[in-house]
Parts: sequence; structure tokens; C-alpha cells
Amino acid sequence: MKGIIFNVLEESVTTEFGAGTWDDLLEAAKVDGAYASVGAYPDEQLYALVGAASSALKIPPDDVLRWFGVRALPLLAERYPGFFGRHTTTRGFIVTLDSIVHPEVNKLYPGSETPKFEFDTSSPDVLVMFYRSKRMLCPLVEGLARGAADVYGETVTIQHTECMRQGAPHCRFELTFAKKNPGT
Ligand code: HEM
Repeated sequence: MKGIIFNVLEESVTTEFGAGTWDDLLEAAKVDGAYASVGAYPDEQLYALVGAASSALKIPPDDVLRWFGVRALPLLAERYPGFFGRHTTTRGFIVTLDSIVHPEVNKLYPGSETPKFEFDTSSPDVLVMFYRSKRMLCPLVEGLARGAADVYGETVTIQHTECMRQGAPHCRFELTFAKKNPGT
């Protein structure tokens, strides 16, 4: 996993819980915490940090991943405004993940292994999103989608109808977006 992901995790933890908590997590996870954004680090280090956060906060690891996704996306939006500024809706942004965002990420971070997304856009109301990755980080996907909705001033309702962790060939999500504070 590329260092940028660890950088964003550090910023998320430090902003919400303070620098001391990040140091505690590094110690509990037995990692040194020196992450260069373009460097590549074993996925196990991310899982160890998520596990340490799960123990410290007494919440399941998948909830840590969801929390991280919500926090990470606005930070990515700050670092890479170009991916976001050309869209006015969460849906418009998300459908470019596989055609623009992650391919550009692969250029910026050679050797990155981004997941595969596919979309069924036949319904104007419900965006169907398919996620495939050997890492099976579907709770992170949910969090990132929620974080993206925050960026666009929307809410998103997520139904996770098929899951790779239960043997499906992909995770399938139904995303329904609404504007926050409609009418204001
Ligand atoms: C809603 C929007 C997004 C979703 C759902 C998403 C999803 C994911 C997930 C789940 C992963 C973990 C790897 C895996 O599952 O195999 C990942 C990796 C990554 N994503 Fe995204 N992503 C989003 C937006 C972005 C944006 C805006 C950037 C901008 C830089 C980005 C950059 C990356 C990078 C650098 C990795 C690490 C790949 C590696 O280390 O090999 N993603 N993405």
C-alpha cells in the first residue's frame, strides 16, 4: 500500500485524537511510522494500525476502516482538487473512479495497486457500484463513498448487497444520494 494512504491515516488520527494517539498506535502496531507518500509498504502494516486503533477505541476493525474512509476522502480532495472540481455531484465524481481517478493515481504513484470499480448507471436514482480487490476492504469503500458525499454537500444511503468476503466475485453496493438540507 502506498505511503500516501498511511499519511492520510496519520492526519486523520492526529486531527481527531492528537499526535500522542498516533504514536501509541505506531507502538502498538510495532511499525516505525516513517511513510514517504510515494513509497510502498506492506499491507500488513495498515492492518496492524487498524487493529491497534480497534483495540484502543474498542470498536471493530471494519468500523475503523469506515471511519478512516470518511476522514480520508476530504483530505484527498484537498490534496487532489483536480479530481473533484470538475464535478458538482458525488455520483458524477464516483463514476470517474475507474476511468480517471485511480488511473491517474497509478501514474502519480507508479506500482500502486488500486482496486477495480464498475458501475451500472441505468437508474437515475440508484448508482450500482461493483468493487473488486484482493484486499477486500469493502468497509473502506463505504467510508470513502460517505466522505465523497460530504465533499459535495450530499448524504448517501448505502446497501451492500453482495460481498467478496462471503464468496461473491465482487462487492455490490447500491448508492442513493440526496442533497443535504434540501430547500435551503
Ligand atoms: C469515493 C472515492 C474512492 C474510493 C471508493 C476509493 C477506493 C479505494 C480503496 C478501497 C483502496 C484500497 C485498496 C484496495 O481496495 O485494493 C484504494 C486505494 C488507493 N486509492 Fe482510492 N478510492 C477513492 C478515491 C481516491 C482518490 C480521490 C484518490 C486520490 C489520490 C485515491 C488514491 C488511492 C491510492 C493512492 C490508493 C493506494 C493504492 C496502493 O497503495 O497500491 N483514491 N482506493
